[in-house]
Amino acid sequence: MESPPLNLREFEELARRALPKMFFDYIRGGAEDEFTLRQNTEAFQRISLIPRVLVDVSSVNISTSFLGYDLSAPIMVAPTGQHKFAHPGGEVSTARAAAKCKTIMVLSFSSSCKIEEVASSCNAIRFFQLYVYKRREIAVKLVNRAESLGFKAIVVTVDTPRLGRREADIRNKMIPPKISNLEGLLSIDVDSQKGGSYLEQFASETFDPSLSWKDIVWLKSITKLPVLVKGILSTEDARKAIEAGVSGIIVSNHGARQLDYVSPSISVLEEVVKAVGGAVPVLVDGGIRRGTDVFKALALGANAVMVGRPILYGLAVEGEQGVIKVIEMLKNELELTMALAGCPTLKDITRKHVQTPADRL
Ligand code: FNR
Repeated sequence: MESPPLNLREFEELARRALPKMFFDYIRGGAEDEFTLRQNTEAFQRISLIPRVLVDVSSVNISTSFLGYDLSAPIMVAPTGQHKFAHPGGEVSTARAAAKCKTIMVLSFSSSCKIEEVASSCNAIRFFQLYVYKRREIAVKLVNRAESLGFKAIVVTVDTPRLGRREADIRNKMIPPKISNLEGLLSIDVDSQKGGSYLEQFASETFDPSLSWKDIVWLKSITKLPVLVKGILSTEDARKAIEAGVSGIIVSNHGARQLDYVSPSISVLEEVVKAVGGAVPVLVDGGIRRGTDVFKALALGANAVMVGRPILYGLAVEGEQGVIKVIEMLKNELELTMALAGCPTLKDITRKHVQTPADRL
């Protein structure tokens, strides 16, 4: 029997073996040259840790809160579409795992399980991620459904006016997503004669490329829930987001699946945090694979991190249990990092515990 995975990268390898190539490529892949995809993880490797010694770390506490919700760790589940590509349990299994790990799951608009099914299957703290389609009434309906089903926040993704060019999906003729939340609301026919992936065709028919800052104000007007924006990479946009009245900012390049050659999110985190100036909490995602990565993100000012692909790899390998293992691995690694770096609580993690490439100039 194969030895069990010891870390998130080993889960990726097992998922590669477990999944049909089309689905593994869809999850792993990034846009075009996948330059940013590689940078998302490599940028973490260029940040070094500066531990403090002779600090009493006989007890280390990694628990925190986000928007008033208590979490076992500053590690959340990023929204990723189509969990049934990874495992038949789909988002229901992921949500159950998130509940057991006492963390927040951001459910993707493009989920394969219906929002109602996810809501009734567990008591996880859930946020709902929204794509705004050309047909705006769909956003209104889904936001209303999320609100009445007890979702606690809306995360609007703003880096996807069109779908990034993911060449593995084009080559594999990736099948269009089955977005169960859209049942009865929208049906899109894809044309097998057209070039590109079916996924790309689906996105170009649906996503609203005219979405702009005034629509964030509109979105806030249709819900009582806090609205967070996901996909901020510049200080200018961070300021605009605050002006628009958002309740949180997610520094993200969509796991390098949209525009290639953008900065890795960890490299722009610190300047965004400075621009935000504590007005709202800041999350970061992209390339987090180790507890040391979580520590680095916190040292550079993030309130918490989100994890995308590793959750799907855990799900692919072992369903709900696999997701629990992935989250617990990251938590254990974070706890050990804090002990070895002399930080008994999250508040003890400071900018002085890391050295970035810019610090070395
Ligand atoms: C995503 N991501 C994403 N983001 C979003 O806002 N809505 C979505 O439906 C999806 N779907 C999706 C599917 C898959 C397969 C992946 C890998 C990613 C992006 C996701 O929320 C997150 O930003 C990245 O996954 C973070 O990077 P890592 O952790 O995967 O490196």
